[in-house]
Order: sequence, then C-alpha cells, then structure tokens
Amino acid sequence: MSRSVDLSEGDANLGDARAAWRSHVGPAARELIGRDERVFLRQSLSTPCLSAVRRAEGIWIEDADGRRLMDFHGNSVHHLGHGHPRVKAAIVRQMDDLAFAPRRFTCEPAVALAERLVALAPPGLTRVLFAPGGSEAIEIALKLVRVATGRHKTLSFWDAFHGAGFGAASVGGESLFRDSRLGPMLAGAEHVAPFACFRCPYGFPAPGGAPDLSACRMACARAAGFVLGRERDVGAVVAEPVRAVPYVPPPGFWPELRGACDRAGTRLIFDEIPAGLGKTGRMFACEHAGVAPDILVLGKALGGGMLPLAAVLARDDFDVAEDLAVGHYTHEKNPILAAAGLATLDVIRDEGLVARAADLGAYALARLREIAACRRLIGDVRGLGLLIGVELVRPDGTPAVEAAEATLYAALARGLSFKVTQGSVLTLSPPLIISRADLDRALVIVTEALDEVAAAQGLT
Ligand SMILES: Cc1ncc(COP(=O)(O)O)c(C=O)c1O
Repeated sequence: MSRSVDLSEGDANLGDARAAWRSHVGPAARELIGRDERVFLRQSLSTPCLSAVRRAEGIWIEDADGRRLMDFHGNSVHHLGHGHPRVKAAIVRQMDDLAFAPRRFTCEPAVALAERLVALAPPGLTRVLFAPGGSEAIEIALKLVRVATGRHKTLSFWDAFHGAGFGAASVGGESLFRDSRLGPMLAGAEHVAPFACFRCPYGFPAPGGAPDLSACRMACARAAGFVLGRERDVGAVVAEPVRAVPYVPPPGFWPELRGACDRAGTRLIFDEIPAGLGKTGRMFACEHAGVAPDILVLGKALGGGMLPLAAVLARDDFDVAEDLAVGHYTHEKNPILAAAGLATLDVIRDEGLVARAADLGAYALARLREIAACRRLIGDVRGLGLLIGVELVRPDGTPAVEAAEATLYAALARGLSFKVTQGSVLTLSPPLIISRADLDRALVIVTEALDEVAAAQGLT
C-alpha cells in the first residue's frame, strides 16, 4: 500500500520534499485533484491523490500536464506495461464478437482461459472460478475451504493484505482494514507473526536479512505450526508465498508449514494476486516455495493491466459447492475479461517475460546491493525477480520512515513512481517489459533521491 500524501495541506505545513514535489504538480493535475476531492468519498491510501494521469503506456504514466514518470508501482497490474497493444486488440476484437455472457451461458474465451490456467498451474489445480477482483477471489477460496472441510477457522499473517472485503480483510492483518470502527471481522480468523527476516518478529537477528537458521530454527514457521497443532480445527492457512512487502521466506519455510498443515488437516491457500504470473521470475511465486497449494488465487495482472479479473484455481476435491453459491458474480464468465486474460498469457509466453523478470531482477538486486554497500541509510535490499524492496534505516537500525517518504517525493520529482510499504521500504515493482537501459535510469534516480535525502537529513 502506498503511503498517502496530502497535497491539500498548505505549503507552509509540508516538509521540504513534499513541498518540492508539490511544485511539480501542474495546473491541469491540480484542477483534477480538486474536483476529485469534491466528488469522491475519501479513504486512507487512496486520497488525496498524488497527481492526475492522462496517459499510461509501457512503463510510463503521463500526468495531466504532460510530465512523464516511470511507473514502478502500477498497483502490480502492469506486468506487460500499460496499454499493451496485443491486449487492447484482443479486447476490441472480443467486443465485436461477443461482449457478455449471461449467467448459465458459457463462452469460448472463458473456457479457454480456465483451461490455459489449469495447464500452467502447479499440478493438481484443475478447477477454476473467476471473480471481478482479488478480494472476491480470496472470499471464494475461504468459502470453498469451509464447505470442503467443515472448518471455518483460518490462520494468516499479521501485516498481510488480502483485499478489502470483510472476508479478505478478516484474514488480512493490516489495522487500517480491521479497525474496530469497521465492526466485527469474521469469527475464527486467527493470525501469527509473519516471516520477516530483516525485522524478525521473534527477535532473532538476521544481519543483512540473511537468517541464522541454526539460531532461530525458523521460529516463524514453527509458531504457525504450533497454532495449527493446538487448534486442530483450522480450515486453511492463507498467505502470500512471497510477501509483497517484499519479504522472501527463509529456505525451508513452506515445506515446514505445509507439513504442519497436512498433519492438522488444514488446507493451504496461496494468494499470488500481486506476485503471480511471472513477477518473481517464475510463473507462480509458489514455484520458489517448493510446495504446491491446495488453492491458488491470481488477480491483478491477469486482466492485462486494463480490466479487473481474478481467478481461483483449486484441486478437484474443492468441487463441493454444486448446491451452494460461493462466487456468484455478474461478470463470472465475461468474454472480454477472459480475452484480456488470454492475451496476457500469450504476451507473457511470447515475450519471455518470466525469464526476463528473473534476469533483470537478479541484475537490479545486485546493483542495489552495490549501491547499499556504501550507504548507511539502506539497511536491507531484498526481493525476487522484479519485486524488489529497499529498506531504509536510521543509524540505530529503526525504520527510517521520514527518509523513505522524502525519497519517494525526491524520486517522483525526478520522474520515478513507486510505493513505500510498511513505512520504510521502497518497493520497486517495474513492468516485466522494462528495458535494461530504463531499469538503469530508474536505479540512478533511486540513488540520487536517496543521496539527496541522506544529505538533507544528516544520514550519510
Ligand atoms: C496480496 C494481495 N491480495 C489481495 C489483494 C486484493 O486484490 P483486489 O484489490 O483486486 O481486490 C491485493 C491488492 O493489492 C494484494 O496485494
């Protein structure tokens, strides 16, 4: 989630970096932001807007006044870049052929997309339902587990995000979505601390983010396994195999937790809504984990960065709700959405984007580690493929929240957009189509922004 940035504050109240960014927002964007503020219900993380976009193409977004920014944020939908011509063409073609399929009528694109996903997915995931967004897809998965196991409890991780609906927010672990003013969440949604080696919640040091497994003996996996063993009636563990913060699990984490799930009769739901479809350098992030889930949830990039589309892939034994409604969505088999999904999979295959993410990601991580080596402000560089985090720290090792926010503004002013997660992690998530030259340009911007902020805040 991006930190919200208040453009409505008077300049006098803004930090230098914010004020500097504000001076980059031109009159057309300001006018739109003003209208946006008058008409939309406000909500944290969405408003007030940073700027206004009038065009998005490839790795670029262009603001209402014509300023271009590289988009390393893209809400994780833009694996193919913005406006990929093959996806656009597929959508247009499909609009002419068949624009909608009413419920109880199937159609060629929806069936073909489901078949393609099953063919690509880890073995055993043979059944599909589509949903209009990730949150809804997570809720389908939760319902399927309830029906299949007769268990309603879940175990998931604090700090995780799985969507904004009540079911998804219940298994999520972010306070913004679970505040008591929102009322009760789902009963039985239990949480444990996640894997987060650089800031191990169990207190084990991991210098440079590398865990000392002989010391911690993977306390994070054992804690989750302990809860499953004690409770014995947890229906599902719901988790991202690679956390989008990002955090990569310590080696052996998933086999250990999968084993605990199997012993407790608990199913494993992997949420790959942002990290699936090649982002981590494998088609599915769980391929790094060495275990297959019982249910896999995809979303975001599946709609080609243009249309909302998510998918639940489940084993055959979850085909248990024939007489119930678990995901009864108007656009369940929408041919246009499915055509976008098919074109997306074609582009990922034809442009070799999975291997590209692996290569460019390894390059960017290595480059960022060199950059970090001589900068005290950077505490950790981590990630997989083109999902990369740069965690900023104060000299005492605590999260450098102000520096991260200032770095974001300084980078925006230089033409690079990304998000800051958990207050102090610069989260760089470029499209998989990015060229090496543009990636280099972006890394130069990150470095310059960091150096400017370190100098301004006395953190060199
Ligand atoms: C890990 C994860 N799960 C689920 C979701 C929810 O997806 P959607 O916004 O399509 O409902 C998100 C969205 O950011 C996400 O990052």
